[in-house]
Amino acid sequence: MIEEGKAKIFTVINKDYKGPGKKSAGFYNPTWHLDRDIQILFCRHIYQQGARKFLDGMAATGIRGIRIKKEISKDISIDINDVSKKSYEIILKNVKENGIEATILNEKFCNLVSRKKYDYIDLDPYGSPSPYIPCIFEGLKKKGFISISATDVATLSGVFKKTCMRRYLANPLKMQGAKEIGLRILLGYIARIAGIFDYSFKPMLSYHYAHYFRVYGSIEKGVKKAEKSLACVGQFYWENGWKIGKSLNAKKIAGPLWTGKLHDKNFIKILESSENKKIKEMAKKFMEEDAISLPYYESGKIAKEIKTRQPSLDKLIEKLRRHGWEAARTHFAGNAFKTNAGYDEIKSYF
Ligand SMILES: C[S@@+](CC[C@H](N)C(=O)[O-])C[C@H]1O[C@@H](n2cnc3c(N)ncnc32)[C@H](O)[C@@H]1O
Repeated sequence: MIEEGKAKIFTVINKDYKGPGKKSAGFYNPTWHLDRDIQILFCRHIYQQGARKFLDGMAATGIRGIRIKKEISKDISIDINDVSKKSYEIILKNVKENGIEATILNEKFCNLVSRKKYDYIDLDPYGSPSPYIPCIFEGLKKKGFISISATDVATLSGVFKKTCMRRYLANPLKMQGAKEIGLRILLGYIARIAGIFDYSFKPMLSYHYAHYFRVYGSIEKGVKKAEKSLACVGQFYWENGWKIGKSLNAKKIAGPLWTGKLHDKNFIKILESSENKKIKEMAKKFMEEDAISLPYYESGKIAKEIKTRQPSLDKLIEKLRRHGWEAARTHFAGNAFKTNAGYDEIKSYF
């Protein structure tokens, strides 16, 4: 039995487990604790905007749904679902232990959302969410909220190009900026699928942590709105550094992917005022990085390429800004930064 937030959970895994999800019933992964804390802040935020019907669509132990119900409001109606019979039984036990009211279901995610409608759906599969994303739009009202996990980070970040093309219909790149490109491919895929169903999509928080990508966002039905969000789907290419748009000559082209904002400032402000130190620290970077849509550079890789020492990131950013360029820290990596300066200029400041 473990405790997380206000929930007490029977689980099959020990607390010290690190890494991606193991495929076993009632699996509890402590690496996701941070995200489940973020999810509580997100759900509180959307509750204040009127969301009441919530779905924990791939629940394992039921921890997300149980925490939402216990930590936000009794007023929320929560459905907790898992396709595995064993997980379903563990969820029944956990819901009872926590004394909450919840509907517990044992269905395939896509079947469930084809017959019930929600204000908020959480999709947290093992590996890639891509086959389940088209189902989500059937299960949402005209306006709604979603959160989606992806643990196929290597695929999205260009290690397995063909798999990325197959799953997300987009070309990744394995180089500086790869993780951001991967996350943006996932966002672009969500926006493109949303468009098929005449829904718009707006990311509210998109991040990489440990072995996963996680996206929180809002959706709304309407052709014009859908077209507006599709206008944020495009390409990045490398020509003396990162550029946005189309190029006939560039050898390195990534996309289709999301070229718009990764986050919504109003929600990031909520994360910034969290008492959780780690969330607060990440929120500062979320706020800073979103001023520049181009993918990040890595100072370690540049230093190696030009055979020099890695400068202090603070000093490098300061230098770029002093010369009139935009420059920012990013949450993607400790030695990563974003700028609109060209690659030759960037190298000249090392
Ligand atoms: C990564 S785990 C979920 C972890 C959980 N949300 C948490 O935060 O601890 C994925 C779960 O999805 C379930 N699952 C896989 N395919 C599914 C499907 N098509 N429909 C519903 N549940 C599914 C698995 O049985 C597994 O319990």
